[in-house]
Amino acid sequence: MTVISPAQPSSLPTGPARARAGGPLNGTIAVPGDKSISHRALMIGGIAVGETVIHGLLEGEDVLRTAAAMAALGAEAARGPDGVWRVYGRGVGGLVEPADILDLGNSGTSARLLMGLIATSSLTAFFTGDASLRRRPMARVRAPLEQIGARFVTREGGRMPLAIIGTAAPTPIVYRLPVASAQVKSAILLAGLNAPGKTTVIEAAPTRDHTELMLRHFGVAVDVAPTEGGTAITVTGQPEITGRTVRVPGDPSSAAFPLAAALIVPGSRVTVRGIGLNPRRTGLIETLAEMGADIAIANQRVEAGEPVGDATASASRLVGVEVPADRAPSMIDEYPILAVVAAFARGRTTMRGLAELRVKESDRLTAVARSLAACGVAVETAGDDLIVSGTGEPPPGDGAIATNLDHRIAMAFLVMGLAARKPVTVDDARPIDTSFPGFVELMRGLGARIDLPGG
Ligand code: S3P
Repeated sequence: MTVISPAQPSSLPTGPARARAGGPLNGTIAVPGDKSISHRALMIGGIAVGETVIHGLLEGEDVLRTAAAMAALGAEAARGPDGVWRVYGRGVGGLVEPADILDLGNSGTSARLLMGLIATSSLTAFFTGDASLRRRPMARVRAPLEQIGARFVTREGGRMPLAIIGTAAPTPIVYRLPVASAQVKSAILLAGLNAPGKTTVIEAAPTRDHTELMLRHFGVAVDVAPTEGGTAITVTGQPEITGRTVRVPGDPSSAAFPLAAALIVPGSRVTVRGIGLNPRRTGLIETLAEMGADIAIANQRVEAGEPVGDATASASRLVGVEVPADRAPSMIDEYPILAVVAAFARGRTTMRGLAELRVKESDRLTAVARSLAACGVAVETAGDDLIVSGTGEPPPGDGAIATNLDHRIAMAFLVMGLAARKPVTVDDARPIDTSFPGFVELMRGLGARIDLPGG
């Protein structure tokens, strides 16, 4: 029943941060662990029997919310002095009712995946989160979990705060995802673990498969087969899951920021070691390569079922490209930083099919367009498409950016400031700690000039 708070890298102060151009960025770094994989390691470890040992867990605020929630649900999750986390799970069906409201902070992944776990546990739980999370749609997970037998009381539109009453008599379902969402897919698969028989999710577009890979790593059979209109992913309920060792790769969505900075700051060369290279996450690397980016991948290997390698980016002359809508799921979190890079490329970059960006930590489609315009970049939106036009020269910069509790907007526009003609200010750097603790120190170590309140 304990969660021991880790010794974290110094947390960022609330308030504005400013980035300005300086010399080239150079060096070799490692970024913190993958956010998606970290959440899943804690959750699946928490329903396994025995000890799960997690190396490289992301100790960002989102993942710590999951650790605290799993502790409230009766699992033990503790960080050792060596930085290794150990989880003692309760077995499938063994979660207990939390004594208080689960506050998931800014973390949509915590909220949606935990709803899945709780849906088929015989307990009632109350969920809330910060102002950003309380705005985000939860009906997308509520609908399938109600079919399985869970009951909900929510605010309008399925929003949090909400109560979920798990069912003691779950019905396994076959569910076709109406949106390309790994969170919804994962919530259903996790719910299916405690339902009798087979639970199937059908996805039309491939989304990140970390839940499937992690379940297999823990010894659970996950069947993946082509079906009409997509792929059917099936779990058979009530397996015995035993604890395992997990090595979490560096988060490619975090690595995206220093790699992008290296591309646009003249003379730079940055290597990020040990990042996840799951093909369902590498849409940004593919797109940057099409734009003419000098990005090399080395030392490819597989760890805990996930492909891993080192990426090196060097300053490059870039051209605008078309990014097709069907690539969106493999780079959904990378559009803010891609849009910033596109502002430095020559020509038009058209990013299609970005409806899902409107329901992230902020309305990222609007936020990116507004923030680029504030930095003097030619940008337009057309329906769900974003079009950025660059001259091949650094844009003016000089923007003041509203982050609206969105870590990726904050990081993307600090990167913009590192190469624009004039500095860029973001109104609050604090949200960066949700996914990338140590971002400012790491970037400064490469040579970046980022000023924080209080120096
Ligand atoms: C995630 C899935 C994506 C992504 C989020 C993490 C996950 O969300 O944006 O940062 O860990 O499953 P959606 O499932 O809403 O696309």
